[in-house]
Amino acid sequence: DRGLAKLRIRLYELNREAARYYHGVLLSAQGRAGMEYFEKRALAPKTISRFGLGYAPSDRFSLVNYLRKKGFSEQEMIQANVAFSSRNGHAIDRFHDRVMFPIIDLRGNVIAFGGRILGQGEPKYLNTSDTPIFSKGRNLFAMNFAKDYAEPYLVLCEGYMDVIALHQAGFQNAVAGLGTALTPEQARLIAHYTKEVVASYDADAAGQKAASRSIPLLREAGLTVRILVVPDGKDPDEFIRTHGESGHARFQQLLDSCGNDVEYRLTKLKKDINVQTPEGKIHYLNEAAAVLSALDSDIEREVYAGKLADEAGIQRAAVLQQVKMLREKKQ
Ligand code: UTP
Ligand code: MN
Ligand code: MN
Ligand code: MN
Ligand code: MN
Repeated sequence: DRGLAKLRIRLYELNREAARYYHGVLLSAQGRAGMEYFEKRALAPKTISRFGLGYAPSDRFSLVNYLRKKGFSEQEMIQANVAFSSRNGHAIDRFHDRVMFPIIDLRGNVIAFGGRILGQGEPKYLNTSDTPIFSKGRNLFAMNFAKDYAEPYLVLCEGYMDVIALHQAGFQNAVAGLGTALTPEQARLIAHYTKEVVASYDADAAGQKAASRSIPLLREAGLTVRILVVPDGKDPDEFIRTHGESGHARFQQLLDSCGNDVEYRLTKLKKDINVQTPEGKIHYLNEAAAVLSALDSDIEREVYAGKLADEAGIQRAAVLQQVKMLREKKQ
């Protein structure tokens, strides 16, 4: 309806002003701590301006006062979730003492923010809650840039900083979710721009679990999926920073050599199961057959059944028989 359409336009304008404010603070004396933080994380001034990064100062009303001067009401500020309402009814800034990451939609509108604390503390990232112009499950960070670099594949990672470090290193095809598990809408958004995705989640247990969970969603969206496991327990940002000048080449190597989702799942199974004993080997083959039974393509099942059979020193027909049995059981 008209009212909602008008409100949305106001909220886009408000968010743009807020982003402008935070960015201006970052570049001013007041934003020194934020600038030092970004320097520590090896971000170049060019990167900071491209992503419109900012700093939210410690005052309780700095953004609220700025936006009021620009003609926005406290109600609008609260609706945009850049402020919340105090007990006596006054709007208070939502973000304090945080470096700010604007989230930008496909048309270039600022729709939300992520704010990172400079040191330790909870929450590490504070994000905009859902608003009339923002739904976190339907957006991907940096898709506004990455959509123009989406062929032959997009790189899907976990964090704002991973994406920014990758773009800075020349990988402008990187995007990230917004702090929640990947949604079907996000998978479809990726599939709208490309046929292939390389998921490059953090190497820690949480990241690997998230990677495993995202695989079926990405497949269901029709994507070819590859999984890049960052070495040495790192995330992509840490990996690139550690390798300095050779960061680009090293990450490119990882991109070129990483296997697809089926190989990833089989490798993971093999790591978790002791295949030295006959029981272990049988367990592994059964679990692997279960992975293959979920594949829709006959050709894919044949190829991996052949690999498994070679590996285990058994007949391919035996593997395929087991896969067939599992598929029939499912129907
Ligand atoms: P991580 O915990 O892996 O953080 O969360 P990070 O991206 O590596 O952050 P740095 O490098 O320490 O700065 C991955 C992503 O999950 C979301 C954010 O989007 C973050 O980038 N997240 C994480 C939150 O939304 N809130 C949190 O408190 C933590
Ligand atoms: Mn403040
Ligand atoms: Mn993580
Ligand atoms: Mn991380
Ligand atoms: Mn990180």
